[in-house]
Amino acid sequence: MHNDVERILFSEEDIRKAVNELGKRIADDYKGKNPLIVGVLKGSFIFMSDLVRAIDLSCDLDFMVAKSYGNAAVSSGTVKIMKDVDADVTGRDVIIVEDILDTARTLASVKEHLSSKGAASVKICTLLDKVTAVKAADVKADYKCFDVGNEFVIGYGLDYAEKYRNLRYIGVLKREIYER
Ligand code: IMP
Repeated sequence: MHNDVERILFSEEDIRKAVNELGKRIADDYKGKNPLIVGVLKGSFIFMSDLVRAIDLSCDLDFMVAKSYGNAAVSSGTVKIMKDVDADVTGRDVIIVEDILDTARTLASVKEHLSSKGAASVKICTLLDKVTAVKAADVKADYKCFDVGNEFVIGYGLDYAEKYRNLRYIGVLKREIYER
């Protein structure tokens, strides 16, 4: 598995620090509120579990499944909500937790979906932001840990064809893996 990684971008220690800082910021910003934190599966599952433990605040957790990719390393352009939140979002302060903001199509759909269900506010928290990627939708991260370039990254929840999610660091996948 490690042999398929071209280079490491963020170590376990880098991630731990960034996630803890972000958790503190969110706890400060939402003091006195009881936010509903919604993880977008599957890519956010490791980030979400570390992040919520860094948010020292009463909050509710939920998950959604939204698909835009299949097994390809490029966006397919369509977003489908496969699993909705269980919670009633009416009047709630929602924080969407995502692994990576690429074209932003996924988050635009998810944000629009939750807003239309009557959320009081909807903010976006992403682990990674592909800053140079062309954003299809006018959606920006309210909270993020790291910027990345336009490369295919894996690890800490992010996959290629369901592999590499369990890497403890975030790295760039060798091109030969997804171009063969
Ligand atoms: P978007 O809708 O184009 O912003 O795509 C977001 C989704 O595509 C993410 O939630 C990931 O599942 C997937 N994705 C985009 N770029 C990468 C990457 O570099 N590595 C792994 N998954 C990615």
